[in-house]
Amino acid sequence: MSNRLVVVSNRVPAPGEGISPGGLVSALLPSLEASGTSVWFGWSGDTTAGPCQDRPPRRVRARGVEYALVDLSEAEVRGYYEEYGNRVLWPLMHGLTAHVADEAVAAYVSYRQVNARFARALLPLLRPDDLVWVHDYHLIPLGEELRALGWSGRTGYFHHTPVPPAEVWSSLPQGALLADAFSAYDLIGVQTERDRNNLGDILLDADVAARVAAYPISIDPERFREFTAAAAADTPPLGLPDASMLFFGVERLDYTKGIPDRLEAYEHALATSPEMRDGTRFVQWAAPSRTGVPEYQDERDAVEAAAQRVNVRFPEHPLTIDFDPHPPEVVAPALEQADVCVVSSVTDGMNLVAKEFAAVHSAENPGVLVMSDMCGAAEELTDALIFPARDIRAMSAAMRWAYYMPEHERRGRAARLRAVVDGHTSWDWLREFVTDLREVMPRTRAPEPRLVHPRPTRHERGTPPPIEVGRP
Ligand code: G6P
Repeated sequence: MSNRLVVVSNRVPAPGEGISPGGLVSALLPSLEASGTSVWFGWSGDTTAGPCQDRPPRRVRARGVEYALVDLSEAEVRGYYEEYGNRVLWPLMHGLTAHVADEAVAAYVSYRQVNARFARALLPLLRPDDLVWVHDYHLIPLGEELRALGWSGRTGYFHHTPVPPAEVWSSLPQGALLADAFSAYDLIGVQTERDRNNLGDILLDADVAARVAAYPISIDPERFREFTAAAAADTPPLGLPDASMLFFGVERLDYTKGIPDRLEAYEHALATSPEMRDGTRFVQWAAPSRTGVPEYQDERDAVEAAAQRVNVRFPEHPLTIDFDPHPPEVVAPALEQADVCVVSSVTDGMNLVAKEFAAVHSAENPGVLVMSDMCGAAEELTDALIFPARDIRAMSAAMRWAYYMPEHERRGRAARLRAVVDGHTSWDWLREFVTDLREVMPRTRAPEPRLVHPRPTRHERGTPPPIEVGRP
């Protein structure tokens, strides 16, 4: 039996829409395009001035994926996406409670309404044996809303951001309601074992907690390397720096990424190792993101101030900052050109830039990855130079070691990092989650005994049978 996969996420890479450079889209899109049968449901990216009625979703087919798109009203974008999604849940999930906007907590009402409307729009599209796969914090209650409408098919959820400790979660007035909403899912995926433990502490129902497992998200390294091969060799994307070593950072402009700290750490490295002033240049790309949210405007100011400070202090003007968005076809050759990639997230669900950097370097073209220990990727990419998140002196020390590192160590680390990424790709991630979702005893069939109690590891269960979704 083969099942159709129906992916549901707030952000949908619909044809003609600007694609947000988040990990969700870059991990899922290649696999869904190759499957040829999948449906991707979510926000069209369009906004209507007046209230949105219950209209059927707009259907568009492109590159093998059927997109089903729903518009949001201006009020919904504000309440569901900007306020509750990005000013409450996003900082909360990252444990950054100081960034949670108290005045936005009441937007929970809008958040629930949009989830309910998405469920009403999605239900008529579903076939009984579909596998519904809901993504990320915007849509935690979607499963509950679908069940309330009578949907009984298999439904999984994947959480892309970190899961905070239970005491942080419960600081949210709606924390218990959101925790209850997980009961609707047959399988709940998180990025790391730390997230699994945290969610296990948050979910009070042991049966639901037993359905949580770590599925570390990844990239399609071959596809990413194809972008580097296609890039014009005579126009290096980072320019031709007058220094022997190029440091690089690239991400959405987001306060969780720790960009001002990173620039301060580079400043500290230049101050303490004067030869790095001539010997290195730092290029930072920070694509504007969620620009309607005040905290993101503040972050741009903080990044600009930190960059200016470095260039005023050092007459070599070692730092270049670029706020333009760049597609993966340009990011890939830039990562390949960089000698050192710095990922300094305060916390991060996974951080796929780290995996992309690893994919385009090798023993022949070694690159050094400097990464904070609070990135999900730090659990796998142990050959990065890992420093404690937010520790500027430790980050600076890692940057200096990247500069002085002997060639043989550089080559060995790069080869091992690449092997890790090649050994577990986005195809594996998708196949493992979807296979488990298909095999797991559906939660809605209670009180039958559950198959997953306790849930065996993928290892113990052996190789899963082939499924429809995956490389053709
Ligand atoms: C993160 C989130 C995704 C989100 C992406 C881009 O990766 O986990 O759910 O889509 O950021 O953010 P945006 O608000 O532009 O969708």
